Amino acid sequence: MSNPEKEFKALLKSHATTVERTLETFLADTTFEGEIARPQRLMQAMSHAALDGGKRLRPFLVMESAAIFGISPQQAAIAGSALECIHCYSLVHDDLPAMDDDDLRRGKPTTHKAYDEATAILAGDALLTLAFDILSREETHSAPQTRIELVKLYAQTAGLGGMVGGQMLDLEAEKQPVISEREILTLQAMKTGALIRCACEAGAILGNASHEDRQRLHEFGKIIGQAFQLADDILDVTSDAETMGKQVAKDANKGKGTLISLYGLGVSQQRAKDLLAQAIETLEPFREKADILIEAARFTIERKN
Ligand code: IPE
Ligand code: IPE
Ligand code: MG
Ligand code: MG
Ligand code: MG
Repeated sequence: MSNPEKEFKALLKSHATTVERTLETFLADTTFEGEIARPQRLMQAMSHAALDGGKRLRPFLVMESAAIFGISPQQAAIAGSALECIHCYSLVHDDLPAMDDDDLRRGKPTTHKAYDEATAILAGDALLTLAFDILSREETHSAPQTRIELVKLYAQTAGLGGMVGGQMLDLEAEKQPVISEREILTLQAMKTGALIRCACEAGAILGNASHEDRQRLHEFGKIIGQAFQLADDILDVTSDAETMGKQVAKDANKGKGTLISLYGLGVSQQRAKDLLAQAIETLEPFREKADILIEAARFTIERKN
């Protein structure tokens, strides 16, 4: 591979198209086997939340982690898109007035603005459940044991001890005058890190990887998950709403517990760089097979939106 950076950029685009097509099939008008009906308004709100937007980084990580073990992007896109459904649900609920109260997401009105709060809550609920329906299906992976491992991983990632738990800690931190570095790292590892780590590990599960290789991807995901939220917090200070497609300069106003609130911008930027170096080191045993994932780590930290 002569130019991993160029190849990464092309793949980020083409995988996003594959994910879009896959999500469209999840959200088609026709009911899945076992469903009674698909209410129009709910479907529209789910489509608003999940289609046509976002970097699709989590499915990308699933697809490229799986690629290390020879799994095709088409195959891995199914589990990847299920994870994206969980991510989109988390954004819909994160933006609700009871949480971050945001009007803009992915350059569009948030789901509760485009529809209404009750519909947004239901759209989030249904996206989360849909993800698990998809994971249980044979198309995701032919081996039932593999599908069960994915279900377990996604459930642990999304719930009490993962993303939802992290959102709780995030809200509680707003009410605390000072929060320690340890507490910030824990809440970030949960609210954001968990889904990113899950993406990398899901690729290993799909590829039937050895315990060591799965552990390596787990570790890599943990590091870039931390870097990803750090970048999000940095961009909240340094970027603008048009570039980000969401409102910025909100964290300090809301008293969010971020490393920037603790150490300032400079230290946080240096940390992001250190994390990138760590992430690259973790993948060394995979040699050139991990070139694209290394570029993904760089992107996670150096991204502009
Ligand atoms: C935004 O995630 C929410 C955070 C965890 C910071 P992304 O920055 O991946 O959002 P999209 O999917 O590209 O819109
Ligand atoms: C979002 O964190 C984490 C989840 C959605 C689970 P933020 O609240 O910082 O994300 P943005 O900045 O609204 O995208
Ligand atoms: Mg939030
Ligand atoms: Mg938010
Ligand atoms: Mg943010």
